[in-house]
Amino acid sequence: DKGGWPSFMAKEVSEEPEAVANTLRGRIHDGVVSIPELDGLDDLFRGIDRIIVIACGTAAYAGMVGKYALEQWTRLPVDVELAHEFRYRDPVIGPSTLVVSISQSGETMDTLMAVKFAREAGAKTLSICNTQGATIPRESDAIVYTHAGPEVAVASTKAFVAQITALYLLALHVGRLRGAVSASAVEELARELEAVPSKITWILENDRARIEEFAAWMADTRSVLFLGRHVGYPIALEGALKLKEITYIHAEGFAAGELKHGPIALIEPGQPVFVIVPSPRASALLHAKVVSNIQEIRARGARVIAVAEEGDAAVLPFADEVLRIPLAGPLFEPLLAVVPLHIFAMGLAGAKGLDVDQPRNLAKSVTVE
Ligand code: BG6
Repeated sequence: DKGGWPSFMAKEVSEEPEAVANTLRGRIHDGVVSIPELDGLDDLFRGIDRIIVIACGTAAYAGMVGKYALEQWTRLPVDVELAHEFRYRDPVIGPSTLVVSISQSGETMDTLMAVKFAREAGAKTLSICNTQGATIPRESDAIVYTHAGPEVAVASTKAFVAQITALYLLALHVGRLRGAVSASAVEELARELEAVPSKITWILENDRARIEEFAAWMADTRSVLFLGRHVGYPIALEGALKLKEITYIHAEGFAAGELKHGPIALIEPGQPVFVIVPSPRASALLHAKVVSNIQEIRARGARVIAVAEEGDAAVLPFADEVLRIPLAGPLFEPLLAVVPLHIFAMGLAGAKGLDVDQPRNLAKSVTVE
């Protein structure tokens, strides 16, 4: 049931606020984060010295975002790896390694095989999954379910924000347990997390129609680039993936700092480039570096579409279009910045008359290797 929306994807994007809220439910009490499913596993989390996150596609980008929070709040080293790459080398893992898998369906064969491989190598395994009782959680030592609700459209949207939410909860749970983050910090971060759903709602209510219109206007575009830095980098990758998946337009995401090491050669007059701009309040330095990237590409004729926080005036002179997101702490921006990109991809696919729910050549759940 599409609930009155033209597609499941449109419905699922509209459910992004609930996907976050439902994933938080029952896991934050008066500023204390505790995940009931992880009761009894304190020794497991105290005994690890390293985390490896494995996943495919959009779930892997959620993992890349989660790395920043996991490292900051647990002080454990974190690597993120594509599941299908992980098991075909000789990774250094053992009983003190926690392998966190992320999968909406819980059935992705590449991810499942990597989890089994990790287990056989003696690592601890934790599954972040959106499907109760799926194979991957059944094969894991611990489970943190995302509560995004069933996701029908092939391109993942609401599951992505729910996966980041679950990773943040996990990071706070483990970080607190290991004494790596203070109770007062957790309280403040929990409050930030709880504020995310209404901020996503703000974007959907205030900007959805405008972004869709803008996307329709770009329907003849042949190639779109996405740039981001820090947590904005995986968001750039996700923006590009979503666009290629459902519009078949060539799209690539880059780390903004990498621009001068190659991708800037692609910039020619009229090339549309989305730039995820970090908050100037969080890091004036990072913000200045991204604004200077914008100036560099703008000077070469790029058409700049900035995804920037409310009130960031520094981008205005150089951006052809600004997609606004509400103010949030630096680690919470990805949960907001991705929303305009999901709307954009969907709007553009709609304008091209494509079936956004069933893109060509793709399956919702890939159960072969
Ligand atoms: C792909 C889907 O094949 O699998 C993507 O098209 C998804 O949308 C990826 O991100 C991983 O799927 P899952 O179920 O393991 O999260």
